[in-house]
Amino acid sequence: MSQKKVEEYSGPLLVLFVARNTDGALICDTLPDSTLQWLENLKEFTGKKEQSLLLYPEAGRLASLLQCRRLLLLGLGELSEAAQVDETREMLRVAGGTIASQCRQNKIETVAVCIPSFPGLDPETVGEYVTEGTLLGAYQFLKYKKKDDDAYPGLKKLELFSSSGRSKTGKAADRGRSSALAACAARDMANEPGNGWTPRHFAKYAQKIGKELQLHCTVLEKADMVKLGMGGILAVNKGSEEPPKLIVLEYNPQKNGETVLLVGKGLTFDSGGISLKPAQGMMDMKYDMCGGAAVLTAIEAIAREKLPIRVVALVPSTDNMAGGGALKPGDIITHYGGITSEIENTDAEGRLILADALAYGIEKFKPTCVIDLATLTGAVIIALGHHYSGLLSNSDVLAEKLAEAGSICGEPLWRLPLGKMYSKQLESKVADTKNTGGRPAGCITAAEYLHQFVGEVPWAHLDIAGTAWDFTEKSYIPKGPSGVGVRTLIELLRRWEQGALTGVPA
Ligand code: BES
Ligand code: MN
Ligand code: ZN
Repeated sequence: MSQKKVEEYSGPLLVLFVARNTDGALICDTLPDSTLQWLENLKEFTGKKEQSLLLYPEAGRLASLLQCRRLLLLGLGELSEAAQVDETREMLRVAGGTIASQCRQNKIETVAVCIPSFPGLDPETVGEYVTEGTLLGAYQFLKYKKKDDDAYPGLKKLELFSSSGRSKTGKAADRGRSSALAACAARDMANEPGNGWTPRHFAKYAQKIGKELQLHCTVLEKADMVKLGMGGILAVNKGSEEPPKLIVLEYNPQKNGETVLLVGKGLTFDSGGISLKPAQGMMDMKYDMCGGAAVLTAIEAIAREKLPIRVVALVPSTDNMAGGGALKPGDIITHYGGITSEIENTDAEGRLILADALAYGIEKFKPTCVIDLATLTGAVIIALGHHYSGLLSNSDVLAEKLAEAGSICGEPLWRLPLGKMYSKQLESKVADTKNTGGRPAGCITAAEYLHQFVGEVPWAHLDIAGTAWDFTEKSYIPKGPSGVGVRTLIELLRRWEQGALTGVPA
């Protein structure tokens, strides 16, 4: 938050928002009427949503008014339109993405944004979501590229000018920053290739943040899994050279009797195993760990923000390979807790590792509710495309809270049903269950598989196979991994109140 005056800002880029009031006149509280009139006559910028105009004040009539090298005007549309809060938030994030893309195009490393005081648009909202969108939009992953002096080094500084309520706006901007950086950290993990991000790397990351933020971190090794009888994760790991890990991170603020358990699929590469995937597109299966990345980066942000709720994150992690010892179709495995499962397809591996983690986490941490995130099925892409994540839950209250948080974050969730008709598709002749339910409703039968391991605990499953990468194209969502789920989890827990996630006051 800057104490200076906008007029004195002499950096490379200043951003001003311009809107239209209900009478159709352009409004901007920094520019004088004469300039707005000039803009009006120019007819190139009408203040519509998602419109932008880049000016060089030095070269024209703004020279006496502003010191900045470049001026970016961003349209907010008619202010009455801003009545829908979720839409406003999204518009501001998109505006942030536009700021980031202007910075990238012009190799600008520092930018200042002037938070307007327009009627009906509160400065905190602007500060939070423009910050979030800008930082999400500025993301880049260059680790494996050779050093290039011409490459854009990235956005280094985002400064905000605000005339009203500085400290509140500053706090709101900090929330936006926290969410955005967490999602970017998840994108970093996902961008790592299968040989650059293995179960070991997940464990190392968890241990590092555990140390830094005083979170209790435990990593269960293969030998521990054997002792505990975690037959699901061990089965998936059988064809691999890399040992599996089950990462446990506990954030324990003051006791308040509630625990949220987060479980994320940390499959660092999914070849399909013996039920091998076709070569085309197999490369994308390095992203099969996005659920794990989401729960780790979310708990990190939650701990940094010191939210008052106990959270435990579990990441079962292995790759799914086709080595000589690999799991075979027809094999029968025994999960943690004793349920046996007939393997029909070794490519339905996510549910096998999640089942152990869910059963173990619920028994050990006795959570009030459980949320799992997983790139679980191709079927969810057939159902919802790349625009909604699938939401499946045994709790209306938890499902609703999650859907609300997702909608605030621009990460929409669509609930699909569960039910006996679907779980019936998983019946095996030789074991308690089998790991696939045929083609119909593949996303739902996958969730029903998990359902067997959570029992009565309020639980929600997010199938992010369609959104963890190739998510709906937007200015603040790059191509490649999106970091989906991270901001939704953080938002859900920021809004946590005693009993609110389950409808049962503790
Ligand atoms: N990781 C995949 C799901 C996936 C597919 C994610 C495409 C993103 C894009 C998962 O492990 C898988 O292979 N699922 C199978 C299940 C089937 C064999 C029952 C699928 O969806 O095809
Ligand atoms: Mn698979
Ligand atoms: Zn998978």
